[in-house]
Amino acid sequence: MVERTSLSIRDLAVQFESEQGVVRALDGVSFDLQAGRTLGIVGESGCGKSVTARSILRLVDRPGRITGGRILLDPGTPAQADLVALNPDSRQMRAVRGGRIGLIFQEPMTALSVHYTVGNQIMEAVLQHSGASPQEARARAIELLREVGIPRPELRLDSYPFELSGGLRQRVGIAMALAGDPDIVIADEPTTALDVTTQAQILALLRGLQERKRIALMLITHDMGVIAEMADDVAVMYLGRIVGFAPVMELFKAPRHPYTRALLRAVPSILAAPRQRLSTIGGAVPHPGLRPTGCAFHPRCTEALEGRCAREAPPPIPPGQAGASCFLAEAVA
Ligand SMILES: Nc1ncnc2c1ncn2[C@@H]1O[C@H](COP(=O)(O)OP(=O)(O)O)[C@@H](O)[C@H]1O
Ligand SMILES: [Mg+2]
Repeated sequence: MVERTSLSIRDLAVQFESEQGVVRALDGVSFDLQAGRTLGIVGESGCGKSVTARSILRLVDRPGRITGGRILLDPGTPAQADLVALNPDSRQMRAVRGGRIGLIFQEPMTALSVHYTVGNQIMEAVLQHSGASPQEARARAIELLREVGIPRPELRLDSYPFELSGGLRQRVGIAMALAGDPDIVIADEPTTALDVTTQAQILALLRGLQERKRIALMLITHDMGVIAEMADDVAVMYLGRIVGFAPVMELFKAPRHPYTRALLRAVPSILAAPRQRLSTIGGAVPHPGLRPTGCAFHPRCTEALEGRCAREAPPPIPPGQAGASCFLAEAVA
């Protein structure tokens, strides 16, 4: 089934400028989000995953700045809008935030206040994005809490966030993200702060909601296990670029980028011998201000081509196509 493209990111570039110089946090990022599908975005810490999420919602704060590219909502339709062209504080952008694109944070308290009850905060979010009456907003808040699997929602409405467990609090975070009935949801490491059992429950909840509401979900994680569980397609990020893109099965079966292979080797496998040491990727992600020449991964790459990868940058992957931004992948393609 051909799905509707909800969001198209093209050649997105974001820079942070400081006295020490210019940091290119994102450099030519392109991908699509499709209704009813989950795009997993994976990469080590510092690769630009959160900056991508915040850029889409126009929440990148100074000294950060979008310096190029387009973020097209409803691309190819008469309603198409380029979010890069909007003022982050405009009415239109505030309506997009929450109303079209919901955001789920790693730490739900980012979106919640300690001073108000859960019910007040969800009702407020409902009212912001609809013409509901206070009574309707209250009914909707109860319905949202029920949808995210919170038992006895009528009573929970009066709880303060600090009275809830981490898992319940993240469920409230999800309810907040859904309060404006968005058709696109961005979840930035939504289960990283949770224990494994709760993590599995929250992922199951997210997947159920995504499927039922045909949401275009962008799921950010550093965890290939979460990717395997959740994603339809996967974009692998390294130092502000997408270096690998593929449907999830293809990515796991035949990873084409050495960085993707390294990330996969670092995943605990049920097939691995019990005490076998988990492999890790040699070296660390360099600071984006100290971007290596050529292919940015070459200093850590065990397969780098002598004389080439340090000098030449492999071309980006055309959006929507499976592939790897790597000279080695070109050879086998
Ligand atoms: N507020 C900021 N000020 C300066 N640089 C930043 C800021 N936020 C992010 N960056 C830069 O952008 C890079 C990517 O960050 P981020 O998107 O948060 O990575 P992650 O993939 O871990 O989510 C960081 O390594 C950092 O260099
Ligand atoms: Mg992050």
